[in-house]
Amino acid sequence: MSYETITAEPLTPCLGAIVSGVDLTRPLAEEEVQQLRQAIADYQVIFFRDQRLDPASLKRVGRYFGNLQIHALKGLSAEHPEVRKLHADESSKHVAGEEWHSDMTCAEIPPMGSILYLHTLPTLGGDTMFASMYAAYDALSDRMKDYLEGLTATHDGKLAFGRFDPTGQYPVAVHPVIRRHPVTGKKALFVNRGFTSHINELSKQESDAILNYLYLHCENPLFQARFRWEPHSVAFWDNRCTQHLAIWDYYPQVRSGYRVQIEDDSPVLA
Ligand code: SIN
Repeated sequence: MSYETITAEPLTPCLGAIVSGVDLTRPLAEEEVQQLRQAIADYQVIFFRDQRLDPASLKRVGRYFGNLQIHALKGLSAEHPEVRKLHADESSKHVAGEEWHSDMTCAEIPPMGSILYLHTLPTLGGDTMFASMYAAYDALSDRMKDYLEGLTATHDGKLAFGRFDPTGQYPVAVHPVIRRHPVTGKKALFVNRGFTSHINELSKQESDAILNYLYLHCENPLFQARFRWEPHSVAFWDNRCTQHLAIWDYYPQVRSGYRVQIEDDSPVLA
């Protein structure tokens, strides 16, 4: 893929590219935003190096791509309710994203994407894995694609967030198991370990077996890219066609930064 002013260096044949030629710490020109939109559509997740952002500038970057969503868990502060602080240290019992998931699929309209900025990294480890749900869908047999077509699944926020706050009230939503991406028109598998509790049209036993098969299928390394963070790197993923996993292999070291989620402007399409 080539763009006018930015450069994208692909990470794997399947997804992910490191983008350079843009300074996210300053206001972006409309042409730059258009190129970044195109790069997200082309690569599903894009990464940037050496961008010193703070909560206000991270919000500014996110707003070029849509309204910012308030997360089900607490925001950073009264001034920045749309920003989530991601922080792990020696006192952490859990970290965000410890199992494969797409963000907030328990919402009626899940975010179109998320932008994560990390300023502090462990000396080694703390990578994030991403997987393409287009590739996962494409690799299913035609018989399995036919079987899944038209099925819907329930996504329950308690599965993902109950461990952080068991007393919280979390959204529950129903989405098609196979979704069509509103920009690219491609089909993507849309169930994930983090939020999906069951497939509505099946018995519990059959739903558990099928979901288990699909989760293992989605986790095939063929569909993945692994991002090695540096201080002040940024990851921007399309939540409609990817899943991700934060690798917590650096305890008790510190890994810290901020994240925003961008609202989608179209409902989940079957
Ligand atoms: C997440 O958003 O799930 C966390 C990702 C990460 O910390 O690498």
